[in-house]
Amino acid sequence: MARKKIIAGNWKMNMTPSQAVALVNELKPLVETEEADVVFCVPAIDIIPAMEAAKGSNIVIGAENMYYEEKGAYTGEIAPDMLTDAGVKYVIIGHSERREYFKETDEDVNKKVLKAFEHDITPIICCGETLAQREQGVTMDFVRMQIKIAFQNVTADQAKTAVIAYEPIWAIGTGKTATTEQAQEVCAGIRACIGEIYDDATAQAIRIQYGGSVNPATAPELFAQPDIDGGLVGGASLKPDFGKIVNWK
Ligand code: G3P
Repeated sequence: MARKKIIAGNWKMNMTPSQAVALVNELKPLVETEEADVVFCVPAIDIIPAMEAAKGSNIVIGAENMYYEEKGAYTGEIAPDMLTDAGVKYVIIGHSERREYFKETDEDVNKKVLKAFEHDITPIICCGETLAQREQGVTMDFVRMQIKIAFQNVTADQAKTAVIAYEPIWAIGTGKTATTEQAQEVCAGIRACIGEIYDDATAQAIRIQYGGSVNPATAPELFAQPDIDGGLVGGASLKPDFGKIVNWK
């Protein structure tokens, strides 16, 4: 069965609540499509107003992060129930910025992934190598390790519904998109890794996005690759460009 594309915006730490409403209203008519699931992952404070603004459209609102505990003394964190109560269906887990600036480990990522599944939130699980790792030729070893840890104790049925975002760190926010060949090669490697952990049916079901300076010019070729099921888009998701990316065909 063909996998439906999933194109998600990651707003990162941009947009106040009122700006979020304005942006959703601006992009709503531009991102209409039946060919892809369209997700806007927004800052926690923007979730409710963005969701209100997105009502009646095909936009699904997601979160950018979530904690792995249910509740309690974790100042500043967002619990899974807070997301589900607000209607959130997707959450980005383990973005490289969370790993770098907030010291999230692969083990944290795994705990968050398990917690997201427990609450029926689809995790968008990020992985990707640094420039030094790419130059040393260890990209696939590194990404495979990230994937293996992220999926520990995740069942095949859960894994089938997950989304993986391959985001080479050197391509994030740099304007330097990975080449189509580089992106396809790693996404195919990730799919093979999922096949080894689970089975072929799981590998064929899971959706794998590419992220890193995706723009309207690079999206069509990237999304046409057999193992790339859409994109996780940063900068360009804050502009009308996102409409062009969503309607890449
Ligand atoms: O999660 C999306 C991302 O990190 C890519 O950002 O700005 O390079 O599209 P950008």
